[in-house]
Parts: sequence; structure tokens; C-alpha cells
Amino acid sequence: MKFSYSNPTAIHFGQGKIASIAKAIDPSRKVLVIYGGGSIKTNGVYDQVGAALEGRTWMEFGGVEPNPAVETLDKAVALIRKEGLDYILAVGGGSVIDGSKYVAAACCYDGNGWDILLGKHRVKQALPLGAVLTLPATGSESNGGAVITRRTTKEKLVFSSDAVYPRFAVLDPDVIKSLPEKQIANGLVDAFVHVCEQYLTYPVQAWVQDGYAEVLLRNLVNLSLQFKERDSDSWRANFMWTANQALNGLIGVGVPQDWATHMIGHELTAEYGIDHARTLAIVLPALLRNQLENKKVKLAQMGRSVFNLAPDVDLPQRTINAIEQLFRDLGVPVRLSEAGVTDPKAAELIAAGIEGHGMRKLGEKGVITPDVVREIVAAAA
Ligand code: NZQ
Ligand code: ZN
Repeated sequence: MKFSYSNPTAIHFGQGKIASIAKAIDPSRKVLVIYGGGSIKTNGVYDQVGAALEGRTWMEFGGVEPNPAVETLDKAVALIRKEGLDYILAVGGGSVIDGSKYVAAACCYDGNGWDILLGKHRVKQALPLGAVLTLPATGSESNGGAVITRRTTKEKLVFSSDAVYPRFAVLDPDVIKSLPEKQIANGLVDAFVHVCEQYLTYPVQAWVQDGYAEVLLRNLVNLSLQFKERDSDSWRANFMWTANQALNGLIGVGVPQDWATHMIGHELTAEYGIDHARTLAIVLPALLRNQLENKKVKLAQMGRSVFNLAPDVDLPQRTINAIEQLFRDLGVPVRLSEAGVTDPKAAELIAAGIEGHGMRKLGEKGVITPDVVREIVAAAA
């Protein structure tokens, strides 16, 4: 085990905490509030943010779409430059927060912002940003990653930088009262897969990371089993905190990781517009079956510790079945056809996308090549 770890995002957690923005942002800052399609205007979040920013210089930029588009975000970059704004407050789910990270970085770069996603520009500098989370799922509110889409070329790519960690994140569980059921189910699945991709590899005797990952997975299973109780304060608070911890970097330190499900999922969203979490529910079971031999020890450990399954020889396979059933019980599709995609060229297209984006050796052992991706997507049809 070898790592350096720091998570610089201050967390303000609990009911009424949106008011803490007032102290978290220096009064001299000129703020751009970035948000999505407008849910914050009808659920009271926008009003609370406005009250906390009372007396400040601030403007707003709405219309960031799910799977945020660089074409939209570049308009926010132009607005910040024109108005001389110097702080970004992202108010929304992963898409708004990711999009705000891109805007923060692109404002400090003179070239074409898409260079950031192509890796041609490595982000060392960005405007400071804060986040008010409205959808527990991605962990974006306290990590340094962002996923941005270019609609014109149907590409969805990732960048990460220490410079775009939010300075603070407000997690008020009350704000998720207005979330549609589908987004709650998506959030549970996304967080679950984030833990899996840092845990379902091979054993390295990392007791802290394994133990904490298992707690988070058990929480997500219990939250799913208690889905009917989701209108309670404790359900909401545990969901929001668990999803945050799933991807704030802690459980991934010093251990092998496998982000192949996410990378394949991003290609599926870019090509067919399937929701992020749904692509994961489709890809993960097929990927685990394909990689059974490499992952069987951790799969068995997960079966025992998370699903309480009996330790027979076929435990790894039964663990995969339990994961798939969990997704099904949440009403999330686990096959491409169930998500409405019947394209016979899907496996070919996605494998070509993975290869075209330079991802020739995915997985913790680098054995998930574009050919293996083709097999996985074909098996998920
Ligand atoms: O746009 P509005 O009107 O706000 O509606 C949104 C959107 O339609 C709605 N919503 C959010 N909060 C709400 C609400 N509706 C009612 N009440 C609320 N409180 O939910 C819809 C989906 O929002 P979105 O932000 O797209 O969802 P999510 O948080 O799942 O984010 C998905 C994006 O994050 C990326 C994904 O690839 C995808 O682009 N990811 C980012 C990661 C990261 N930065 O670390 C990791 C993740 O794995 C993921 O890849
Ligand atoms: Zn995700």
C-alpha cells in the first residue's frame, strides 16, 4: 500500500445547510451560479441560494443539460469572461457540478476548452468553485473528476485535476424530496458501481479500504431494500452521505481499480443517450461474468460480506446474480434491449469508440482490450 491522500472539499451536511454558503464564499467574490434545467426553481433550492447570496454580486447561468455539453458550457465561460466573475457556485446534480468544473478550468485556459478533455491541456489552474448537491449519485461534489460530452461528435470524455475539487459542498438531504423515483434509483446504482469499481478487483490485504467499501455497499443494498421508506429523513441522509463517500477518493487509495464499466458506459451514453447509471447496470454484470476468473476472490468476499450468501463453490457467480437482481428490483434495465437499444452494430461501435479514445487496456490488470469490450457489450445485448 502506497499513497498520498488529501480531500480538500469542506462538507456542510444537514437540513438548512444551504445558508452556510454565506460564510463559505468570501464576500468580495463575484459569483456565477450555474444550474440545470430548472428543478431548483420549483423546489425552493434557488430561493435558499439567493437568500444566502443576499447583498453579493452574482449572476446566473441555467440550462446545463444531463451529460453536460461543451457547446453549452462554453457559453458560461464567455459570460464569466465578459462580466469579470471570479467564483462559480454549482447548484445541481453531477452534470451541473461536472460542467462547472469544466467552466472553472476553461476560464483559465486560452486555447479550445475541448483540449482539456483530449488531454492536450493539463489543468493546473481553475476558478474556485463551490457546490450545492441536489442529486446523490456521482460524488462529483467532493472529487476532482468531471465527464463532459461533445454533442457534435457524440463523444463523452473524462478529465480530472486537483484544481477543480470544489472548495466546499453543501449536502442538505431535504433537497432530494423533489427527485423523481427514476433519478433516485439511478443514484443508488451509480454509487453502488463506484464502490464496485474500486473493490471488485483482486485482494491486496487493504483492510480499511475493503471494510469501508463493504459498509458502503451494505448501506446501498439496505437503502434499495427499503426503497419504500425513501421519504424519511434517515433514508435521505444515509443515501446522500453514502453516495458521497463512494467516490470521494478514500476507498480507492492504494488499491487496484477497474473503471472499465464506466468507460464502456460513457461510450453507450454518447452513442445512444442512455442515462449514466443505466449504462452501468447494463455493463457491470456482463463485465463481471466475462472477468470472473480475475475477480472471483473479491466476488466471493463481496457475496459473504455484503449479500450474506453461503460460501459454496459457485459463490462468485451467485454474487453477480445478486448484483443484477438488485438493479432489477430498482426497476433499472440490465440489458441493452431493455433500455430500448437493439442496434446489431452496438458491440462493434462501442469497441471502436473505446479504441478510438485510446483505451486499449482497461481493467485492473489491463486485460480488457477493445476485443473484450466487444464481447462484453454483445453479452449485454
Ligand atoms: O437539470 P435539472 O432540472 O436540475 O434536473 C435534473 C436532471 O434532469 C434532475 N434533478 C437533479 N436534482 C434534482 C432533480 N430533479 C428534481 N429534484 C432535484 N433535487 O435530475 C436529472 C439528472 O441530473 P444529472 O445531474 O444529469 O444526474 P447525475 O447526478 O446522475 O449526474 C450524471 C452525470 O455525472 C457524470 C455522468 O457521466 C453524467 O454525465 N459522472 C460524474 C462523475 C464524477 N464527476 O466523479 C462520476 C460518475 O461516475 C459519472 O460518470
Ligand atoms: Zn458513475
